[in-house]
Amino acid sequence: MEPEPPAQIPQRGMQYKMNDSLIVSLKNIVVDFDGEKVLNGLSLDIHDKEFVTFLGPSGCGKTTTLRVIAGFITPQSGNVLFDGKDITGLPPYKRQVNTVFQKYALFPHLNVFENVAFGLRLKKMPEEQLRPKVLEMLEIVGLKGFERRSIHQLSGGQQQRVAIARSLVNQPRVLLLDEPLGALDLKLRKEMQLELKRLQREMNITFVYVTHDQEEALTMSDTVVVMNKGNIQQIGSPQDIYNEPQNAFIANFIGDSNIVEGIMLKDFLVSFCGHDFSCVDRGFGVNEPVQVVVRPEDVAIVPPSTGMLTGLVKEVIFKGVHFEMHVDVEGKEWLIHSTQASQPGEIIGMNIGPDEIHIMSREGV
Ligand SMILES: Nc1ncnc2c1ncn2[C@@H]1O[C@H](COP(=O)(O)OP(=O)(O)O)[C@@H](O)[C@H]1O
Ligand SMILES: [Mg+2]
Repeated sequence: MEPEPPAQIPQRGMQYKMNDSLIVSLKNIVVDFDGEKVLNGLSLDIHDKEFVTFLGPSGCGKTTTLRVIAGFITPQSGNVLFDGKDITGLPPYKRQVNTVFQKYALFPHLNVFENVAFGLRLKKMPEEQLRPKVLEMLEIVGLKGFERRSIHQLSGGQQQRVAIARSLVNQPRVLLLDEPLGALDLKLRKEMQLELKRLQREMNITFVYVTHDQEEALTMSDTVVVMNKGNIQQIGSPQDIYNEPQNAFIANFIGDSNIVEGIMLKDFLVSFCGHDFSCVDRGFGVNEPVQVVVRPEDVAIVPPSTGMLTGLVKEVIFKGVHFEMHVDVEGKEWLIHSTQASQPGEIIGMNIGPDEIHIMSREGV
């Protein structure tokens, strides 16, 4: 039977709700340290009022990219545009950009108010203008009443709020945040994620956020930029990145996935593990070898007689809400998440719908 083509081929970037105009563009940025290329001709467009997150393992060049945008690093080649104008050689203090670092770098000898006021005092803003601005910013970050506290009387979360207020009070058009929640414990980090999202909406500015935590990236961002070894691997909405990883690195980095070798028989039909599956992908060569990605939660457990595949349950672990099962399918271990538990030693049937199958070209690996 001919598989039905999908009603709609998913398009990237459909979710863009922010302003369409670009604010920052990186064009072929090359940075090398001591002869070693840290950014390999990186190009990226950032939209005005977008929440963009750079996601990737430690050492992949996320901080370096932020520093290029901020102007702390001049690339060996390539250009940085802001509002369409070339600012590659412009010093940091002349850019409409502010950075919040992982380590808060607050002034320990100044109180909360003076830490936030610091940038405005440098600009010689008169006291009667400065005071209401600082107080408003402290209120926005939830630190009303803390003005006279000294920095060492604050918790880590409160110190980070001061650091954010200190950056935002300068009214940057782009706020760069380099793993700003990295030093906080999990519960506080979750709270601050929501808080930062709210702040971005309220301030109506562009946030460029750096993290190595995939869940943080997927929950906070309009757009996720996945990086590895100084290159961009994929740019897309969190849904794109999660559902349509473009190569095995991304699929592995983003979550536990089953990745198996397959053959794309023709458009909308892929063969793996000895079965032909309808899928929603097309545009590969006839009989092209591919990699197939199936998420653990996308495998339906059915009676063996009705399963597209059958497998032997090796191990079942209760994870609080779901069961994680390790299942042997023709010698390859699959990971399946299900709310119903099977027993170790049981043979199960496994069904996978066309939407649940993601095809990656092997050359992308
Ligand atoms: N000032 C520097 N001098 C030499 N090497 C550096 C410098 N800064 C970063 N690097 C190297 O560049 C690579 C990318 O670093 P970085 O951008 O900090 O990565 P990330 O923020 O993704 O963890 C790493 O291999 C790092 O060791
Ligand atoms: Mg870094």
